[in-house]
Amino acid sequence: MSRAAVVCGVGSYLPPNLVSNEELAARVGSSDEWIRSRTGITQRYFATTGMATSDLAVEAGARALKSSGDSSVDSVVLATATPDHPSPATAPLIATKLGLTGVGAYDLAAVCSGFVYALASAAGMIAIGAADRVLVIGADTYSSVLDFQDRTTSVIFGDGAGAVVLRAGDAEEPGALGPFDLGSDGEGSHMITVRAPGSRQRLSGVPAEPRDQYFYMEGKEVFWRAVQRMAESTKAVLAQAGWSSDDVDWLFSHQANLRIQHSLADVLTISRGHVFSNIAEVGNTAAASVPLALDQAHSTGVLKAGDRVLLTAFGGGLSWGSTLLRWPVLPL
Ligand code: UT7
Repeated sequence: MSRAAVVCGVGSYLPPNLVSNEELAARVGSSDEWIRSRTGITQRYFATTGMATSDLAVEAGARALKSSGDSSVDSVVLATATPDHPSPATAPLIATKLGLTGVGAYDLAAVCSGFVYALASAAGMIAIGAADRVLVIGADTYSSVLDFQDRTTSVIFGDGAGAVVLRAGDAEEPGALGPFDLGSDGEGSHMITVRAPGSRQRLSGVPAEPRDQYFYMEGKEVFWRAVQRMAESTKAVLAQAGWSSDDVDWLFSHQANLRIQHSLADVLTISRGHVFSNIAEVGNTAAASVPLALDQAHSTGVLKAGDRVLLTAFGGGLSWGSTLLRWPVLPL
């Protein structure tokens, strides 16, 4: 028997404001054809006025807790790059709104890799006995930091939240997470960034330009790095687990661009038919992307108990991470 973190609940939430390619293209000077062909995206959801990341996270968290059949946890971990405020962390507020006042709660900032990092962090807490049950949420409202003067980045993001509940269990049972691989490369930190507010800018003596408060990405430079890093990282966990690419029933890679998802599958020699993608309907939802995809695949019956699942993500930092599991029996 080896103590491990086991997935025992899953849930997700999308905000109500559905934005089509046509609507967004008219606003930013793009076209449905460009967005579809370059990214695979056809629509996304944006938070409505007054709705913040915690609001999305609470909904997803409540659904994951319900799916786990037990509304109590010892800790709440929120992966996000768009917290409600620069300080304090958003997770304590989410915990309280879920009726969990008193539990450990913290945010984890690894941008689009955040959910995989948060799974590793929560699995570590469970492994050392610091927690028996953890709610892990990935939630982002990128619409709050998008620069709608920048047509390339503003058409790819959407808002959303996804969550899983982890419980202490055995490494050999379905749902057990691991091995993990995590990596980063700060040389590329300028490639995906929101420069302000932050201590560097605030202490510079120079007021922030309005554009410094918006999301900036060097998309072309990031593209091939995403494929390369997720390929290396997934190969590492597959080797550690003794799985071959043929063993993978479903590849859940960060939903950044359908072309990245397909290129990664090709490099790994995993058939594109084994790639789960919901980017067409939701866009790139950052830290929410992997758990949102898991919940949609589960609730639509695509993902079945016993399926061998490979999770991988890449994003700002630069950062990346991977893990795997056999999908457990969960209520629909
Ligand atoms: O989530 C974190 C990780 N993120 C990623 O992994 C994202 C990785 N990068 C990408 O997915 C892609 O680089 C983008 C989708 C962001 C951009 O696609 P691209 O094929 O790399 O486009 P590009 O920036 O090289 O631009 C190609 C052309 C340019 O025109 P010219 O110079 O060839 O005439 C752009 O001006 O497309 C033009 N363009 C657009 N045209 C219409 C760029 N954005 C748009 C647009 N609508 N929205």
